[in-house]
Amino acid sequence: MIAIFDSGLGGLTAVRELRSLVPGASYIYFGDTGRVPYGTRSRSTIIKYALQDMRFLLAAERDISAVLVACGTVSSTAMDVLRESFRLPIFGVVETAAAAAAAATKNNHVAVIATAATIRSGAYERELKRIKPGIKVTAKACPLFVPLVENGFTGGDPITKMVCERYLSPVRESGADTCILGCTHYPLIRDEIAEALPGVTLIDAGAEAVKAIVPYCQGKDDVSPRYFVSDDPEAFEQFAKRLLGGDWVGRAELVDIEKY
Ligand code: DGL
Repeated sequence: MIAIFDSGLGGLTAVRELRSLVPGASYIYFGDTGRVPYGTRSRSTIIKYALQDMRFLLAAERDISAVLVACGTVSSTAMDVLRESFRLPIFGVVETAAAAAAAATKNNHVAVIATAATIRSGAYERELKRIKPGIKVTAKACPLFVPLVENGFTGGDPITKMVCERYLSPVRESGADTCILGCTHYPLIRDEIAEALPGVTLIDAGAEAVKAIVPYCQGKDDVSPRYFVSDDPEAFEQFAKRLLGGDWVGRAELVDIEKY
């Protein structure tokens, strides 16, 4: 059983990838829909939230073989604290995305777009430079993307396209040939991002991380996925149905995350 968490809906893009790579994978998902976004908050608040999210998941399910932190913000800000605090394999999205981008770039120039907290952490940049010293990195915070996605401004919405153009024109002009979508919400506006970055290879950080946890899914019983949120389970269910397709039959349960 895999545990997956995010600040809200974005981690479902990783769930979608997991379901396509390992049909029937058993997992438990927590989306902190009551406290999203994390990406505008301080490091200490993000760490506090991430510890609560982990404590909840471990209390809700005993048989967890690995955790996927399907949130770029937590992955870039709190992984050291999580790994010190819990004795089980915990995967973030930074290392695998940086490895994929370093392998993909032909002109040795990678862009990273993510939340303000992720960009401030410098985590993707550090990892890219560790893998490929001398690589050029252009980083751009895109703080409006998460609220646009959470409020359903997807599917080619003109406002989202305008915001993409505003944030991404400097990225386009930087000449980077590869761009990491460093926040798991961003694949939900991938087409709009691609339109603003023609010819640029996009790396989906959540999808890359899922490949790393696949070995932990195998050989497990096929148990129905469980979903938990900290606010508005109905809205979450509707969103999950749209994203994961008609075979999604789960229910989302409400959690008082402040208790953990
Ligand atoms: N999906 C989260 C991430 O990858 C969203 C961030 C937020 O809550 O601001 O960073």
